[in-house]
Amino acid sequence: MSKASEGKAGGTGAPALELEGVQAWYGESHILHGVDLSVSHGEVVTLLGRNGAGRTTALRAIMGLTGRRQGSIRVDGAETIQLSTHQVAHRGIGYCPEERGIFAALSCEENLLLPPLVGARAQAMSLEEIYAMFPNLYERRHSQGTRLSGGEQQMLAVARILRTGARLLLLDE
Ligand SMILES: Nc1ncnc2c1ncn2[C@@H]1O[C@H](COP(=O)(O)OP(=O)(O)OP(=O)(O)O)[C@@H](O)[C@H]1O
Ligand SMILES: [Mg+2]
Repeated sequence: MSKASEGKAGGTGAPALELEGVQAWYGESHILHGVDLSVSHGEVVTLLGRNGAGRTTALRAIMGLTGRRQGSIRVDGAETIQLSTHQVAHRGIGYCPEERGIFAALSCEENLLLPPLVGARAQAMSLEEIYAMFPNLYERRHSQGTRLSGGEQQMLAVARILRTGARLLLLDE
């Protein structure tokens, strides 16, 4: 697994996200064997690797969604390895899983109204701002979430975490 990054260098403080010697397991399966990674504020980082390299597992480990984890995962310099998933989210992290997690029984707009605030209210995008950024979602706002096209569902999944005010976005595929 390798890292490609672009974007401006971080601010004066700690990195937005820092992994050091992170190991993770699914049951008996030892998947991550010491991942080191640093993401500055304003930086876009891409994890590259063959299928099964562990990219999804790395994102899930950051969110506390794997089995056992070990090592250090710091958000804005604060250790999060001991926190549960909802506590990690409330540090201002938005996770968009590969399978998108669109609620089938809800409309596009109801999906957008669902997420809680996890970051600063000022950073959470309003419905108007979301629709200006994703005109397709405005067009399809009354459609059932899973009746959207694949690309539109991806827009909805990303738009939904932008509604939370998250400062750090973990986007899988
Ligand atoms: N729930 C699970 N239980 C046991 N092993 C798992 C589980 N999920 C993934 N694995 C294993 O962990 C390894 C890493 O999988 P992961 O999904 O992180 O890879 P990836 O880099 O995201 O690949 P992909 O290109 O398929 O998205 C693989 O060997 C996979 O078989
Ligand atoms: Mg994956």
